[in-house]
Order: sequence, then structure tokens, then C-alpha cells
Amino acid sequence: MAASPLILITGVTGFIGFKVLLDALEQGYAVRAAVRSAAQSESLRTHPKISALAPGNKLSFVEVPDLSAPGAYDQATKDATYIIHLASPLPSPFLDPQTGIYEPTVKGNANMLSAALQTASLKKLVITSSVFGNMPFPPDPSNEITAETRQPDLQGPFESMLPAYMGGKINALNATDRFVKENKLSFDIVNVFPGFVFGPDDKALKVEDITAGTNRVLLPIFTGGSADSPMPSGVAHVYDVAKVHMLALKDGVPQNLGVTQPHEFDDAWNIVEKHFPNSVKEGVFTQGRQPTVPVNWNAHQTEIDLGIKFKSYEDIVVDVAKQYLEMSGKEAA
Ligand SMILES: NC(=O)c1ccc[n+]([C@@H]2O[C@H](COP(=O)([O-])OP(=O)(O)OC[C@H]3O[C@@H](n4cnc5c(N)ncnc54)[C@H](OP(=O)(O)O)[C@@H]3O)[C@@H](O)[C@H]2O)c1
Repeated sequence: MAASPLILITGVTGFIGFKVLLDALEQGYAVRAAVRSAAQSESLRTHPKISALAPGNKLSFVEVPDLSAPGAYDQATKDATYIIHLASPLPSPFLDPQTGIYEPTVKGNANMLSAALQTASLKKLVITSSVFGNMPFPPDPSNEITAETRQPDLQGPFESMLPAYMGGKINALNATDRFVKENKLSFDIVNVFPGFVFGPDDKALKVEDITAGTNRVLLPIFTGGSADSPMPSGVAHVYDVAKVHMLALKDGVPQNLGVTQPHEFDDAWNIVEKHFPNSVKEGVFTQGRQPTVPVNWNAHQTEIDLGIKFKSYEDIVVDVAKQYLEMSGKEAA
């Protein structure tokens, strides 16, 4: 029997990466998972959802302690047929904007491109960008954005978290485009542009873990949180985001794939009222608010190209609310 093709996946300890890891193992790939430390590989190896798949020697780990260090991925990519590069910091008030968000994003991307170039076995490199990687700021809803849209590089240094994240994603994407033009590649590169990613967190083992990922932006809208800063429209179910990353490995897929659809954050409350009326009556769910900035990012072409239909905002909210109820020991009602 032919050996399974090897995928290197980075960012496997994260919300999206963990689901991509599960999907890759379920689909029979051999996976080399890049983590920062041995403790992380141990906690992934023993995670109930991974153990349930009994991956045996189909799952291995490689430690990349600092993705910004020159040559960081040179050993990790060895013999890989595919790479899915998800590792990158999200906007966080706990990270320095320039050195904790912007620099790891662009340097990690550059290091992955350079390692890929040295990997003769490689057929495809999939890189996770973001809708923030190709939208202007502030967004202009009269202009449609698609996966082909590009923005000029943003000039740093960056002193606050959202510009640092956007600058990192925009500049990394432009660097990838230049790299494709300047090199005669023997592999393809696919950029994936997710909107805000929400949905069941398969890595979560207790209710507090659900807010480790970006569900922390959605949950307050029906658990009484109140945010003043408006967030751009555009949402994706984590299972769709993982699915698009896996489908991106197939031959003949376009170079740029969007996974997002327009939404209004505060509609989450109406959805919860409709699907969980008793939980609302009992006060388990209470209304919060998250203002939305309209953005005209159209990813429909990706649904056509991949022959899939994205889950709706309603599906997303219901799935997050259900996981919250299950993990907090409250019946869905
Ligand atoms: N979630 C969203 O709404 C969303 C939307 C669009 C695009 N994206 C992109 O999707 C990718 C994954 O996001 P996510 O939601 O899964 O984020 P996440 O849950 O925060 O996971 C981020 C992953 O990247 C790793 N990482 C972050 N900073 C790192 C650094 N400096 N060095 C090494 N590893 C680092 C983390 O490793 P540790 O566990 O070791 O920190 C983790 O595995 C990112 O590229 C993100 O920009 C996310």
C-alpha cells in the first residue's frame, strides 16, 4: 500500500488549526504537527478527540520554538507533500503590536515561503490569510472585495493591535504574491481568507476553553457582554474554514479562496431567542451587544469553485450556543 501523503500543519494548538488537524487525520493523511513545545505535543497527543482517531504513527510532531527565527521551518517541511500554515498571532491586548503581532506574522510567513522553496517533495502550500489581509481600513461598503483584491503594504511601526494585525496580514500576503512572481515554483500556493471564525471549539474540554478562540467575540452577544468598538462584518463557521483548507489541497483549486459571508453581529440575539427560548426565559442567555461595520466581502466564488455551501450565521450561532449549554451543564431548551 502506498504511504499516505505527509502534511505539515502549523497552528494546530489553535481554534482553527485543531479542527484542520482532526480533518486531516480523519481523511487519512499523515500529519506532522508543528508546535512550540514538547508540552503542547503531549497535550495534543492525549486529547480525547485525537486519541479517538487512534492516529498511531500517522501523527508526529515537530518543535518550532520561534517561528520568527531565520530558517525556523527548514527542518519541519522536510519530505512534506503539503503544508497548511495557520500559525500566526491574533490581535491581542496582551501582545506588543509590533514585536508580538506584526513581526511574527510577516517573519513566520517569509520563513515558511523560504522553507517551502527548499522542499522538493512539496505539491502545495496553503497559507491562512484573513479578510483583514485584503480590505481597506476603514472599509468602504460601496466597493466589493473578493479573494483577488489586494491592498498596498501598510507602513509600520505599529502601535496598536488591529493595525498591527492588518499590517501583518496585508504585508505577508503581498510578500507571498511577490514570491510567486519572482520564483519558478514547482508547487502551488493557495491563500485562504476567513472572516470572523466562530463555531464549536473541538479542542475545548470545559466551558472556559470555548473563549480561548474567537468565540470570545460572539458569546458576549448572548451572555450579556457589551462591546463599544464596532467590528467589521464577515463570518465563517470553523468547520467550513477547516473544510476549505483541506479542499485547497486538491489539484486545480484557485490560488485565492474566501470563507466569509456578510452578517450583523447583533442578530445573534434574535437567533438565540428563536432557538433557545427557555434558556432565555431562565436567564442563562441574556442580551449583549456588538456593533457591526458593514463590509462588502464576497466569497461566493469559492462556494462555486469548491462545490460547497457555507453554513449560515444562524447555524454558527446555534452551534456555539449549544456547545456553551452542553459544557456549562445546562440543557439546550
Ligand atoms: N479566528 C479568526 O476569526 C480568524 C479569522 C481570519 C483568519 N484567521 C487566521 O487563522 C489562523 C489561525 O487562527 P486561530 O483562530 O486558530 O487562532 P488561535 O486559536 O489564536 O491559534 C493561533 C495558532 O498560531 C500559533 N501562534 C500564534 N502566535 C505564534 C507565534 N508567535 N509563534 C508560534 N506560533 C504562534 C498558536 O500557537 P500557541 O498555542 O503556541 O500560541 C496557535 O497554534 C491565523 O493565521 C489567523 O490570523 C483567524
